[in-house]
Amino acid sequence: MRFTVVTLFPELFEKFLYTGVIGKAVKNGGIEIKLVNLRDFSEDRGYKRVDDYVYGGGPGMLINPVVLAKSLKSVKKRGSRVVALTPKGRLLNRAIVDQYTECRDIILYCGRYEGYDERFLINHVDDRISIGDYVLTGGEIPAMLFIEAVGRKIKGVLGSTESASSESFEDYILEESHYTRPEKYSGDSVPPVLISGHHKKIKNWKRASSLRNTYIFRPELLKNLKLNKEELKELKQIYKERYCGHHKTD
Ligand code: ADE
Repeated sequence: MRFTVVTLFPELFEKFLYTGVIGKAVKNGGIEIKLVNLRDFSEDRGYKRVDDYVYGGGPGMLINPVVLAKSLKSVKKRGSRVVALTPKGRLLNRAIVDQYTECRDIILYCGRYEGYDERFLINHVDDRISIGDYVLTGGEIPAMLFIEAVGRKIKGVLGSTESASSESFEDYILEESHYTRPEKYSGDSVPPVLISGHHKKIKNWKRASSLRNTYIFRPELLKNLKLNKEELKELKQIYKERYCGHHKTD
């Protein structure tokens, strides 16, 4: 899979390209990341300006559509998917990430200033992606986030395909809590069931912990879930603990 990142700040990606799981995938060829400096396509010989005022007034500046189109012409191939990172886009989620794992060639546009001239978006961009309902100073961090989320799902990028598929959101609920050594830390012990060696009990504990985390942090995800009797009982217990002061004795 190839990602081409078009940005005014390619240097922001330098550490990202060589670090951790993504760094390894870049090194072994599983992922290719090409950085393109938007300023190289400026028509302005002096300051290499790429931005201009907004028609109709308003704060900030916009990236010039001619510069954007020129840059795209130099990187686009047949089958490329062109994505603009913008707070005015579709909110990135698991389903969208999964769809992008099918693409071979993704071109990511990182906006700056007030964003892009609308004609570039309409005529040249296949998708507009936002990473959340807040505004950042540019699309570079959203682009890194996009590459992380999509890249790590590509076969061979993580240690095993197992690790990507058993994670949060794969079955629409959060993962269970995790513990490592030491067994006692800061007055709290690892839940005894996890060191019992009893596989069935451990499996049940993990499911209950998962439900608990989802109930507390992302309750809306439980709406789509089909729960069995045991799981419903568990949820009622969590509810009682949180809102009625009851605690499980076992
Ligand atoms: N650029 C600025 N804010 C953004 C956001 N929330 N998502 C994607 N790109 C952005």
